[in-house]
Amino acid sequence: MTNLAIAANGLRKSYGDKTVLDGIDLAVPEGTVFALLGPNGAGKTTAVKILSTLISPDPASGDIRVGGHDLATKAQAVRAAIGVTGQFSAVDGLITGEENMLLMADLHHLPKSEGRRVTAELLERFDLTDAAKKPASTYSGGMKRRLDIAMTLVGNPRIIFLDEPTTGLDPRARHNMWGIIRELVTDGVTVFLTTQYLDEADELADRIAVLNDGKIAAEGSAEELKRLIPGGHIRLRFTDPDAYQNAALALNEAHRDDEALALQIPSAGSQRELRTILDRLDTAGIDADELTVHTPDLDDVFFALTTANVPAQPNQPKENVR
Ligand SMILES: Nc1ncnc2c1ncn2[C@@H]1O[C@H](COP(=O)(O)OP(=O)(O)OP(=O)(O)O)[C@@H](O)[C@H]1O
Ligand SMILES: [Mg+2]
Repeated sequence: MTNLAIAANGLRKSYGDKTVLDGIDLAVPEGTVFALLGPNGAGKTTAVKILSTLISPDPASGDIRVGGHDLATKAQAVRAAIGVTGQFSAVDGLITGEENMLLMADLHHLPKSEGRRVTAELLERFDLTDAAKKPASTYSGGMKRRLDIAMTLVGNPRIIFLDEPTTGLDPRARHNMWGIIRELVTDGVTVFLTTQYLDEADELADRIAVLNDGKIAAEGSAEELKRLIPGGHIRLRFTDPDAYQNAALALNEAHRDDEALALQIPSAGSQRELRTILDRLDTAGIDADELTVHTPDLDDVFFALTTANVPAQPNQPKENVR
């Protein structure tokens, strides 16, 4: 059996009478990437803060272990094993990027020379060497984000929590960050991340959990989650309103989008289904201006699972599920 870097049973947290986490279970094997998805306010940051000892779970929670240590009784040991990059920056703007890093090295009790070596290496890795001697307040949002994560790595943690690590990064910086996260995992580090970007979870995570309404609405690999929900469809778009109306009559089971002059037919996108649709259009003498085949992606999963009180309904195009 693989060891679990994070194991939580019945994790609960309420603020007053508002239940944020209503007893969630988490099991993250060592050396893997786990992504926690959920709409704004779902409780992602709350989960990260609890698991990284910044706030306490409700006493009614079950056993929670991080790095093999009991969160309730061995918080100090947990802190020694982890690194945390919060959703909001921990960078001190008044001092330089390098000084921020050296401060972290001091906090981790690294000897001075070791602190300098690690700082130089990480600044280089995060493309911050040129800016190292400038006050962090002069950095762009993306540079601050990179410095934030570099600071997290100073203590060489075995488990890292990244709360929306790529929010605000440009596409190149995002891809760099993904590369860095993959490298960390290759070295055996466990990564627990939250993200609003479904492609990020799809790209990085071994397992993904979707948090909604205080509970884990679904959990699995990206592929497993995509299989959970329907959402595949063929979409036909028209520029001529008459052609659109005629096509809507010929394909009377299609879902209409009158504004976009588009029709959607639930379908797994097989060759046979496509041919049938095209034959029916041909028979009616209609040409579509655009035909696209849509297979479910993590966006569909997200919308299907997190739209309040609207369960995913089989064979409905995703616009209805949203
Ligand atoms: N200290 C607090 N006191 C009261 N309510 C809080 C506190 N911290 C968080 N909450 C509430 O808990 C809920 C979950 O917040 P949390 O920050 O964990 O969400 P999130 O999933 O990280 O959202 P986002 O995607 O916006 O970052 C929200 O309704 C928030 O208002
Ligand atoms: Mg958050």
